[in-house]
Amino acid sequence: MVLRNFFLFLSKNKTLNKSAKKWGLKLGAKHVIPGETIESAIDAVRKLNEKGLVCTVDHLGEFVFNREEAIESTDYCVRTIEAIAESGVNCNLSLKLTQLGLDIDRNLCRDNMRKILATAAKYNIFVRIDMEDYSHLDATLDLLAELRREYTNVGTVIQAYLYRAEQDVNNLKGVSLRLVKGAYKESPEVAIQDKAKIDENYMAIIKQHLLNGSYTAVATHDHNIIENVKRFALENNIPKTQFEFQMLYGFRTELQLAIAKEGYTMRIYVPFGNDWYGYFMRRLAERPQNVAFAARGLLR
Ligand code: FDA
Repeated sequence: MVLRNFFLFLSKNKTLNKSAKKWGLKLGAKHVIPGETIESAIDAVRKLNEKGLVCTVDHLGEFVFNREEAIESTDYCVRTIEAIAESGVNCNLSLKLTQLGLDIDRNLCRDNMRKILATAAKYNIFVRIDMEDYSHLDATLDLLAELRREYTNVGTVIQAYLYRAEQDVNNLKGVSLRLVKGAYKESPEVAIQDKAKIDENYMAIIKQHLLNGSYTAVATHDHNIIENVKRFALENNIPKTQFEFQMLYGFRTELQLAIAKEGYTMRIYVPFGNDWYGYFMRRLAERPQNVAFAARGLLR
């Protein structure tokens, strides 16, 4: 818990974030972030596709505070979608609304999302809005509801550590959801703190969305959860086409391949870009054993 809080604290440090852009993908980050350019991401996706894994790419970015940066991020997302389409890889896009200006101006963020979704719709590509910390939850869900009046190729993420997760999943029947345990440090007023209870709530919302007949992406590295989901789907005649598993690039790679071999859709989240620092710190916070990556990288 102490290490988790330490790495989450570091993840928000703007000075370190700036320096990290200069360092490049050192300190073991390369193991979990394949590169800094669109080309390097597409290359990684192609290799994963060849192994039977599908992907979603995410252009990393933190601390977007002005309109120019938000527009730049939007254009980058559009270019990424075009690169996916042109290369013919099996991949969709994940993004964060704060990168597109959510904290600056909601109208700007909505316009940016429209531009991205229009391009993605043209190529039949799905766009997943990642879920950030609790302070952005309502704004994210409001914007999603607005966008879904125009576009169906968009969905979001619900975090099982939040008390309100069940209610949100209930309100999002029919929407493709990625369900996760939750990665941010949230207060006990809004989020369950006990790991076993989070796992319990996680299974509960997965079952809830599956039984609603809605498409469910189960994003976890937890083999117990994965086995429970497989069993639950079998027992309830839920077809393999109604759900998928998701894991992060570089994590449990053997398990990723084994799941795909069993005939399940296994989607790998491939982050790329030079703004890798915050993402990397959040991964260290989740699993301090990942510090081993960093140590190995540093030694090299
Ligand atoms: P957890 O970390 O709870 O581990 C459970 C058990 O699984 C461990 O005790 C261990 O036995 C095993 N295990 C886990 N990792 C392992 C490893 N690397 N090697 C060996 N064993 C391992 N969060 C968020 O707030 N918003 C978001 O939008 C997203 N998006 C997202 C996308 C994808 C594709 C993934 C996989 C995750 C996210 N997350 C996220 C992060 C998520 O909320 C969560 O913080 C992490 O996935 C960590 O929790 P796990 O469910 O993976 O297992």
